[in-house]
Amino acid sequence: MNILVTGAGGQLGRCIRRAAGKAGFADNYIFATSAELDITDVTAVRAAVAEHGVGVIINCAAYTDVDAAEDHPELAARINSDAVRYLADAMAEAGGTLVHISSDYVFGGNACNTPLAEDAPAAPTGVYGLTKLQGERQIAESGVRALVLRTSWLYSEYGKNFMKTMLRLMASRPQVNVVFDQCGTPTYAGDLAEAVVAIVGRRLYEGREGIYHYSDEGVCTWFDFARAIAETAGCGGCDIVPCRSCEFPSKVVRPSYSVLDKSKFKDAFGMSVPYWTDSLKTAIRNLNSNEA
Ligand SMILES: NC(=O)c1ccc[n+]([C@@H]2O[C@H](COP(=O)([O-])OP(=O)(O)OC[C@H]3O[C@@H](n4cnc5c(N)ncnc54)[C@H](OP(=O)(O)O)[C@@H]3O)[C@@H](O)[C@H]2O)c1
Repeated sequence: MNILVTGAGGQLGRCIRRAAGKAGFADNYIFATSAELDITDVTAVRAAVAEHGVGVIINCAAYTDVDAAEDHPELAARINSDAVRYLADAMAEAGGTLVHISSDYVFGGNACNTPLAEDAPAAPTGVYGLTKLQGERQIAESGVRALVLRTSWLYSEYGKNFMKTMLRLMASRPQVNVVFDQCGTPTYAGDLAEAVVAIVGRRLYEGREGIYHYSDEGVCTWFDFARAIAETAGCGGCDIVPCRSCEFPSKVVRPSYSVLDKSKFKDAFGMSVPYWTDSLKTAIRNLNSNEA
């Protein structure tokens, strides 16, 4: 059985490629970047599944620019919802399983201050979160066997993300203002990738279909995350100043609290989840050692 990873050029896709290699599973994986497989092309999706004898799709492809999604809602919906249905239908027809990544941004519209379980009412506050929720619903409606992993605040050595942006700004500015009124949990994409590769490699998804929350352990604000990045990377020369979200005008209201409760994931798969500052050290070590 072969495993197709879509969106393989993104940060999670690249971490899955590395994790599959380290776990010795790489031979069964087909990695398709957006240039190699456009998931909005239903014919191409069907052809890829048939050509490679795909039994599992791990969908890492998504429209992830939260701000730009407000200006391009149709494109975001095509990629995050319609195309997810194509992947789901292709796996349903092949009798396979879809492993799909969703987001903490399906929440945010309901004020809360305790970690969110999978059955908490979804309430997206913007186009990105709404289209990710629609993607989840497409999967449910298709009837495919699927594992949906909602994650939060992904970062890694790869691509564009908060950790890399902060490192760049801290190296070039005397002061960086970072919001302290949004709480969540940073998730090292390498941790999520290792969990996904273990679940798929050991077929732990069988009989465990459904929605699960996966982030690293712990809670912080973006300000705390920035401070931890500075301390871990040894960037002492930049003043990191807490500020409010309203100081960064944006078309999107971001969730003020989107901490995910991971109890269901840990119970179902028997895996421990790393604490976010420990994983930050790993990410910065990997970045500095050019493992990226
Ligand atoms: N980043 C976060 O903070 C975060 C938080 C929670 C959940 N998530 C979810 O986690 C998953 C992985 O995110 P990520 O951070 O790895 O995102 P990413 O780095 O932006 O990667 C997404 C990938 O999807 C590809 N893609 C876009 N449109 C496509 C299409 N039509 N066909 C095929 N590929 C396409 C992109 O290719 P191009 O670059 O060539 O367009 C890119 O390589 C996504 O489902 C995302 O919604 C992310």
